[in-house]
Amino acid sequence: MNILLLGRGKTGSLVAEIARRRGHGVQVVGAAENDACAALTAEKLHAVDAVIDFTAPSCVIGHIEACVVAGKNMVVGTSGWHREVDRVRTLVENGGTGFVYAANFSVGVNLFFDVARAAAAALRHEYSGQIFERHHVQKKDAPSGTAIAIERIIREASGKHDHLEITSFREGDVVGMHEVVLESSADRIYLCHDAKSRRGFADGAVRAAEWLADKKGFYDFKDLWREL
Ligand SMILES: NC(=O)c1ccc[n+]([C@@H]2O[C@H](COP(=O)([O-])OP(=O)(O)OC[C@H]3O[C@@H](n4cnc5c(N)ncnc54)[C@H](OP(=O)(O)O)[C@@H]3O)[C@@H](O)[C@H]2O)c1
Repeated sequence: MNILLLGRGKTGSLVAEIARRRGHGVQVVGAAENDACAALTAEKLHAVDAVIDFTAPSCVIGHIEACVVAGKNMVVGTSGWHREVDRVRTLVENGGTGFVYAANFSVGVNLFFDVARAAAAALRHEYSGQIFERHHVQKKDAPSGTAIAIERIIREASGKHDHLEITSFREGDVVGMHEVVLESSADRIYLCHDAKSRRGFADGAVRAAEWLADKKGFYDFKDLWREL
C-alpha cells in the first residue's frame, strides 16, 4: 500500500518504521508541511491508499474532513476528539470512505477491555469502581481516551448509570498505564495494563490500515482486532 502518515512524533515515527518493514510505501508529513491541511488535497492524495493520523486533538477533525472530501480511507490514532464521534461517523458514511479509529490500537489493551467488561459484574454486588491512568507529561488530553473507553465499557456492562471516577496522573515519560480498582467492604480487585513501549499502538494501526484496504464504512478497532 501507499500510506500517507500524518505526524512524525513519538508514535508516528514507529508507525513509519513498522509500515515500511511490512512492505508498504510511506510518506511522512509533519505540522510544517500540512498547514490548513495543505497535504490533504485530492490531487496530493491521488496515489495514496490510506492516511494514518497520529497528530494532535486540535487538528485531527480538519484532517478527517479533508480525507473524506478527497475520498481516502483513514486510520486515526489521535485522541481527544471522541465527543465528536457521531458527527464523524455521519461524515464518513455520507462520504463513502473507510475509517478505523481506536482509543487504543494495542491488542493488549483491547484484551484488557474484555477483562474490564467481565469484571463490571462487581458493580452489581456492592463494589464501587475507580479508574487511574498515568501518562507522560507532554500528553495533551486528560483523561486519556483509553480511560474514557474503559469507564464506558464498565458502566454499560454493569447496567449502572453512575460514572466511575477517573484520576489522571502526568509524570515523566510513562508510555501509558491504566488501572481499574473495584472495592467492596470485604476486598479489592486490581486490574492493570502497563504499556512498555509504543510499538503495540503502531503495529495495530498499520494492521488496521491493511484490514481496511478493501472496505468502506466506519469502524472501531475494538470490534475488529480479533480479525487481524
Ligand atoms: N490510539 C492509540 O493507540 C494511540 C497511541 C499513542 C498515541 N495516541 C495519540 O496520538 C496522538 C499523537 O501522539 P504522539 O505521542 O505521537 O504525539 P507527539 O510525539 O506529540 O507527535 C505529534 C506529531 O503530530 C505532528 N503534527 C501536529 N499537527 C500536525 C498536522 N496538522 N499535520 C501533520 N502533523 C502534525 C507533530 O509535528 P511537528 O513535530 O512537526 O510539530 C508531531 O510530529 C496523540 O493524540 C496521542 O494521544 C494514540
